[in-house]
This record gives sequence, structure tokens and C-alpha cells, in this order.
Amino acid sequence: MMKYRLICKQCGTDNRQFPQWFAQNQQCYGCGSKHAEAVYEADYSKLTALYQENPDSFWLYFDYLPVENRENIISCHEGAIPIEEWDFFEKIAMEQYGINCKAMVYRNDKNGGTNTFKDVAASLAATVFKENGVSEFCVASTGNTATAYSKYLALEGVKITVFVPKDITEDSINEIRSFGQNVVPVDGNYADAKKMAMEFHEKSKVLISAGNIDPIRVEAKKTMVFEFMRQLGKMPDVYIQAVSGGTGPIAIDKGVREINPTFPDVVLPRMLLIQQDLCDPMVQAWENAVANNFPKGYEKEYPVIDNPPTEVSILSTGNPGMYPVIAPIVKKTGGTFLRVKETDLVNMAKRVYQERKVYLGPASIVCLLGFFEALEKRQIKDGETVLINVGEGADRAMKFKAKI
Ligand SMILES: Cc1ncc(COP(=O)(O)O)c(C=O)c1O
Ligand SMILES: [Zn+2]
Repeated sequence: MMKYRLICKQCGTDNRQFPQWFAQNQQCYGCGSKHAEAVYEADYSKLTALYQENPDSFWLYFDYLPVENRENIISCHEGAIPIEEWDFFEKIAMEQYGINCKAMVYRNDKNGGTNTFKDVAASLAATVFKENGVSEFCVASTGNTATAYSKYLALEGVKITVFVPKDITEDSINEIRSFGQNVVPVDGNYADAKKMAMEFHEKSKVLISAGNIDPIRVEAKKTMVFEFMRQLGKMPDVYIQAVSGGTGPIAIDKGVREINPTFPDVVLPRMLLIQQDLCDPMVQAWENAVANNFPKGYEKEYPVIDNPPTEVSILSTGNPGMYPVIAPIVKKTGGTFLRVKETDLVNMAKRVYQERKVYLGPASIVCLLGFFEALEKRQIKDGETVLINVGEGADRAMKFKAKI
């Protein structure tokens, strides 16, 4: 019996496991699609007992991850991070908006690898590569994935070449090099870096990260759903995240679909996805869809911002290729996309530092500003529990940190 199988999302072909998937150049052998989803032979009722544990990583959920042998696990204590209640957020919600809500902050900056919510994916990737004898990999990244993969793959002796846009911070480049990995700064933006990575993948036959639908990334991040259940005892009513590519919402959707048949109470939270005004193609697309009452095919209509002038390099996806996948997920949850002002970042970061003595990176602050924008737009209701997914610490954004 196989623990898991990779099933094509387009045509339903069973692509077996990672050895076959990698040998097929990460494509379905039925239809060529790159979108496969892991399906498990697993007893989900065992999750209830796991929720009683006090894990030191997301590997608590080994039975529901695409790895056969525990001995292959590469971990730096990621993914079992605290969810904190931030009462100063709740106070503002009450005093300024008359809303009585719970503000629960998911502290990805406390991940043991590189202090970002990319650590779980990097841990799973390193583990899958160890199990399947992969020795080389490549990825295009705006910084956090690049750093996390560089560190975790180095632990397993896997070489990675990362293609990064030229506006990525010096701190990130130095950190990637410190792990002995190969970083290629591309003279262009994130879209150009992706193109270069794809060329390298095709020419050198090196495996590549398949973007936001990559089964490794999705499987790692779906464990968020398990963690919400373990720590909150229920799903939040609202989920807020800064969105760039969209792995987060795709993974939460997958996690809920996976366990809902066993736990019918586990349903999707209303998703509020946040972008900053200097790179907001998904917000623009959504506003347009709302204005036109969601015409048929609305999800295929989105703008491409060629050179987004944003300074939040982590959130600089000007070409939101995943919008057609993400918009329907947001719509079915009754959620929305919201825009915040990049000029408000530093003040919010200062405020957070004063209240909690924690330095957060700019992408995290975009998410936190989203909480207030949601209140302003009446998107949070009385009595709701709001999960705010804070994605990163400030250590790779020293210039930003200096302003806090
Ligand atoms: C800190 C942080 N927040 C948000 C995002 C957006 O992630 P996604 O849109 O892939 O869910 C990223 C991705 O790089 C990130 O590093
Ligand atoms: Zn297929």
C-alpha cells in the first residue's frame, strides 16, 4: 500500500509518488498538467489525539505528509508556532469600531529555520529530496522562499540555485550565500527571475519549484489547518494574509477539503487577502469583478503590473498568475481582497514594537494593516475569531527594521 499518491487536478490521473513525478519532469503523464495534489491512505480521526500533544514542529502530522520514512525528516523546529491573542488589536476594534472580536496572531516569525512561513515548505522539500535522492534544485523567489530553501537544502547537501529579482534585500542575498548556495540576481523583476529559473530548469534538467501549486509547498502549508484546530480548538471565522502568489489560501483550501469529510465542523474561514497599494493586481481584479457583479469567467480577468514600484520585495508579484485559482476560493468563503497603503507600514511596525516588543518584516505589517482595513470596511463582525497570519520577522529587512 502506498501512503500517498499524486493525483492530477486536471485529468485525475494517478501519478503515483514523487520518484515517478520527478522522473516525468514534474508533469502529469496523462495530460501534461503541472498541478497534482497529494491524496492519502490515512485515518484522519487520529488527528483528534494529535491535537492534545505539544509538538516541536509540524512533523507531528507525519501521517498526512508525502513522506514514507520518518528517518528522512529534516527539521529546524518549524510549523508548531504559537498563536497569540493580541489584546491591543481587540481594544482598537472595540473602541474605534464597536466590534468585539478575537485577534489571534499566528507567529510565523518564530519558525526555527529562517523565521518565515516558508520554513515548513523548505523542511518538507529537504525531506522529500532526501527520501528520493534528489541532489539539485532551483527556484525563483522574492526572498523568503530562497532563504528558507537555501538553508534547509544545505542541511541535506542538496545544491540549490536561486534566481532573485534585483530589488531583493542585500540581507537576503548574503544569507543565501552564507549557506553555500548559488544565488543569481536577475536584472529585472520577479517575473524575469521566474523566466530565468525556467530556462535554467529546462537547459540543465534540474528540478524546479512548481510555484504556488507545488504539491510540496501546499502539503506543508496545509498543516496550518491542523494547527488552527489544535491551538484554537476550532477553525477561525476570518483568515487574514498578505498575498503575493497565493500558496497560503490554496493550502488552507486543500487542508480543509482533506479533513472535512471526517470533521464536518472544519470549514473554510472567510478569507481576507491583503495587498499593498504599490503592487495590488489581485485587489484591482477583484474590485473590477465586484463592480461587474462577477460575470462568467471573471477570474480570468486580471491586470499585470509590469514593474510594481513597491519596496516590499516579498510581495512584488505584479503578474498574479494564480488569481484564477485563488479568486474562486475567496469567493466561496464570502471573503474579499483589500488594499492597504505602503506609506502606513512604518507607523504600524512601530506600534507593534511598542506594544509587543517584536520586530516584524514589511510583508507581515501589510497583513496587520489588513486587520484595520477589514474593520474599516466592515469585514469583521461582532463575536468573530480572526486569525492573522504574520509571515516573517524583520531580520532580512534591516533597512526597514532601522526605521522602527
Ligand atoms: C511573509 C510573507 N507573507 C506573505 C507572503 C505571500 O505568500 P503567498 O501569496 O504565496 O501565500 C509571503 C510569500 O513570499 C511571505 O513571505
Ligand atoms: Zn493530468
